[in-house]
Amino acid sequence: MSRPTTAELMVRALAQGTAIPAFNIPYLPMMAPVVRALADTKTCGLIAVANLEFVKFESGSPAAIRDEYERVKNEAVTRLHMDHVPVIDEDNLRVDYLGVLGEAVELGYESIMVDGSRLDLAENIACTRAVVDMAHARKVPVEAELGAILGHEAGPLPPYEELFASGRGFTDAAEAAQFVRETGVDWLSIAIGNIHGAISAAGKAKQKVAARLDIDQLGRLREATGIPLVLHGGTGIRRDYIQAAIANGIAKINVATAIRQPYEALREQSIERAQQAVYDATCELVADELAVAGNALRLMV
Ligand code: 13P
Repeated sequence: MSRPTTAELMVRALAQGTAIPAFNIPYLPMMAPVVRALADTKTCGLIAVANLEFVKFESGSPAAIRDEYERVKNEAVTRLHMDHVPVIDEDNLRVDYLGVLGEAVELGYESIMVDGSRLDLAENIACTRAVVDMAHARKVPVEAELGAILGHEAGPLPPYEELFASGRGFTDAAEAAQFVRETGVDWLSIAIGNIHGAISAAGKAKQKVAARLDIDQLGRLREATGIPLVLHGGTGIRRDYIQAAIANGIAKINVATAIRQPYEALREQSIERAQQAVYDATCELVADELAVAGNALRLMV
């Protein structure tokens, strides 16, 4: 069997009307059961880590995640992805994003994400462009974000229905077209009503709000960009919205809370039971909520 790159897999997913789930790993023992679930369900998936997961959780470092990935990977279904490295983080602190992403490329991460969404358009374009230049020289695809996907910040979220009705922070189609043209980015994370699960001490065990998606806006973004689009905040979105999103250009769906919470609920009793809960949650997600199980049979050819 050939070994398709992550860039090829994303283009195939878009063309075939399926999506590649990306699972975040805030605790290293979560990785093995996610890989096993993907293999058992024949589902193509990314093993992902975000900057905040080695700063605020227990994934250690980009190198520690890479080492665990080398130990448990299954290249018939998995690839390694560096998720959200923000230019400005959820606490409004500047991050050495080029340094972290450069290290990820050196370590062998097969795709990376720069998140300049807290900057204005011109600055987001400039920072993303710098990352694209660095990564493309090493043939590594880049994801970026445009629009405001709330949820990771400390403090309460504004009432969700008001947020959705106002469309505040949603990605604008004309800006998205300009962003893709001027950065050369490979995939774009967009805001269409999706939000991240909370990570603050007060919020991280709470049930996530059931987000809705503006599928008409997604259609406009697909037209405007022509590249694979990414849905962050994949936990707790109704199945019919997810399916409509995949049918309208979403080629990658990020999931963190739905596998982190079952792990955190059990890890003090038994790591094995917590790992089993991660396995079960991953199988259920790919089969039911995301309905992408079996897609490796079509994508990994
Ligand atoms: P959830 O925590 O809502 O699944 O979002 C995950 C995510 O988007 C990580 O980048």
